[in-house]
Order: sequence, then structure tokens, then C-alpha cells
Amino acid sequence: SNEELPSTDIITLTRHVLAQQFQLGAIATGDLTLLLTAIQTTSKFIATNVRKARLINLVGLAGNSNVQGEEQKKLDVLSNDIMVNSLRASGKTAVLVSEELEEAVIIEDKFKGKYCVVFDPLDGSSNIDAGVNIGTIFGVYQIAPGSKGTISDVLRPGSEMVAAGYTMYGSSCNLVLSTGNGVNGYTLDTALGEFILTHPDIKIPSRGKIYSFNEGNSMYFHKPVVNYLNSIKYPTTGKLPYSARYIGSMVADVHRTLLYGGIFGYPDDKKSKSGKLRLLYEAFPMAYLTEQAGGVASTGHGRILDVVPTNIHQRCPVFLGSRDDVNDLIRFYEEYE
Ligand code: AHG
Ligand code: MN
Ligand code: MN
Ligand code: MN
Repeated sequence: SNEELPSTDIITLTRHVLAQQFQLGAIATGDLTLLLTAIQTTSKFIATNVRKARLINLVGLAGNSNVQGEEQKKLDVLSNDIMVNSLRASGKTAVLVSEELEEAVIIEDKFKGKYCVVFDPLDGSSNIDAGVNIGTIFGVYQIAPGSKGTISDVLRPGSEMVAAGYTMYGSSCNLVLSTGNGVNGYTLDTALGEFILTHPDIKIPSRGKIYSFNEGNSMYFHKPVVNYLNSIKYPTTGKLPYSARYIGSMVADVHRTLLYGGIFGYPDDKKSKSGKLRLLYEAFPMAYLTEQAGGVASTGHGRILDVVPTNIHQRCPVFLGSRDDVNDLIRFYEEYE
């Protein structure tokens, strides 16, 4: 019969990354692959804790605040500790920056490697207790030649990242990754404990039909954003209005935007002078993935990946998604310049 048999040739994330490195003809040492293996393991470890959080008393507050003044959830702290431990032990890292740690972690010589990892261990904290999608976001830099690994190795524009990705803990667990050669998505096969290539070469549609903003902040929004949102809600010349989708977990909102197209935005406004999202471990990795998928990622005034950080926890306005949609928004900014 013509019925398709299950594949006997599955492509795991590790196999796929190795094959890509090989194809690029890079003088690959395997170090990046090993680092990504460590990151994959942390995502599996976090995923299993997320799944049983309600059962093992892992919901609710940890009792402390982080450097941004947010109350830490138990899962924020657990996920942070999982990542720091694993990334240190990998022997491939030199500097770690986490949303949950005020200072950068400089890895001691014994474990020092050549990569710096910036990460949001648990993104979408406010959604944990309701069982809504949450995630992990990461970006990877290589230390500058001759550097021993200092803070200056991570205070660099996002365009210098060598890899970025996120894992979404949703109805399935998906890891989406770019090593600078397009974007690929992998789904965790929980029986195998492996991420399997399920979304090869993700490309964002050049225009979408969905906008994703926290419109509850409308009274604080600046004119270009207000006018842009009005233009897609009350279109002229026979066009249909856009649909609204806003989960409140950046990972989930960006994941949908990559697959379906449209625009995700977290603007700066009259209350939050630089917006809410953090440049290093939220804006940069997501902007990197967006561009690698053929989309646009802007602050409203310029390319996100060109911003030069001065502080590891600084914030940045974010608009990203389909090329035509984000360019429409940028035109509203240009009107006010
Ligand atoms: P985190 O949970 O890592 O602190 O990030 C929360 C972020 C991001 O996930 C999301 O896009 C945004 O906060 C939602 O903010 P609002 O609740 O203000 O809409
Ligand atoms: Mn937080
Ligand atoms: Mn976050
Ligand atoms: Mn977080």
C-alpha cells in the first residue's frame, strides 16, 4: 500500500546542528554543538518541572525580588539555577547574564570556555499559575579574541550574536534556534527525550493579519503607536481589520508571530520610558530570530540588533514580525521625526 510508514531517519537537534556546521565548512570544534546540548538539557529539565509544577508545589512566589523589582516566582528561581549550573558545568561558557541575577556570572578558570550566554530563564512568569504557555530565551556571543571573558564581551550589539533561540513550554515543548543560517524549530519527543526537527527553515510571511500589543497601556502610548494601531483596526480602502492576539508571554507571542506573521510590539510609552522588555536576553535573541526568518525587528527608530548595550539589564522598545507590517509601523514613526 501507499500508506506512509513512520520515519526511521529522524533528525535530532544535535544531528541537525552538526550537519549545518559541517555544511558551512566551518572549522567547527564542536564547542557550539556541546554548548547547545547543555542548553537543550536545561530546557528538558525546566519543561518537566513546568509540567508538574502544580503537583510538586512549584507554583507561586519564591519570596524575593529581582534587580528589576519584580517578585520572583519559584519557577523563575529554579529555572535560573538549572541554567547557571548546567552552563557552568558545560565548560563552554565564560560569562553568563540572567534576568534573575543582578550581576553577570564570570565563570572560574576551571570551567571557562569561549561563549557567553545571556538568558531569560523563565519568560512569562505572570502566566505560570494559570498553566498558560511560558518559555526560556537565550542568546550566545563568543568572547572577543584575547579576552578572558568580561562584561564587555556581552555589552555588544545583538548583530554580533552567534546563536539565539527560545524554548516554549506549551501544548508541546518547542525549541526554535538560529545559528546565523536561518531558523529551525524542533519539538520535544518526551518519550525519546530528544528535540526533533519539525519546523525546518521557518520564514515569516511578508504580511500578517494579527497584531499583538498590551493595549491596556493605550493611555500611555505615544502618537505613532496609537495612530498605527488605529490604522489596522479601522482600515480604509476596503481592507479588513487585523485580529488581536496577546498572550503576555513574549516567547508565545513571538512564536505565533514567526509562524503566522503579523506584528508583536512592546513600545516605550509615557510611563515606561524604554519599554518593558530587556535588551540583552529578550529583545536581542527575538530580533535575531526574526531577521533570520526574513522579518523586521525595530525600536521604532532603528534596528534592534544595532543597539549597543551599556547595561546588562537595560530595556528596549520592541516591534517585530512580518516585514510589511513592521515597516508600516516605522512609517508612522517617521512622520513624527
Ligand atoms: P518575564 O516573565 O521574563 O519577566 O517577562 C515578561 C515579559 C514578556 O514575557 C511579556 O511579553 C511581557 O512581559 C508582558 O508584559 P505585560 O504584562 O506588561 O503585557
Ligand atoms: Mn521577570
Ligand atoms: Mn521575559
Ligand atoms: Mn523571566
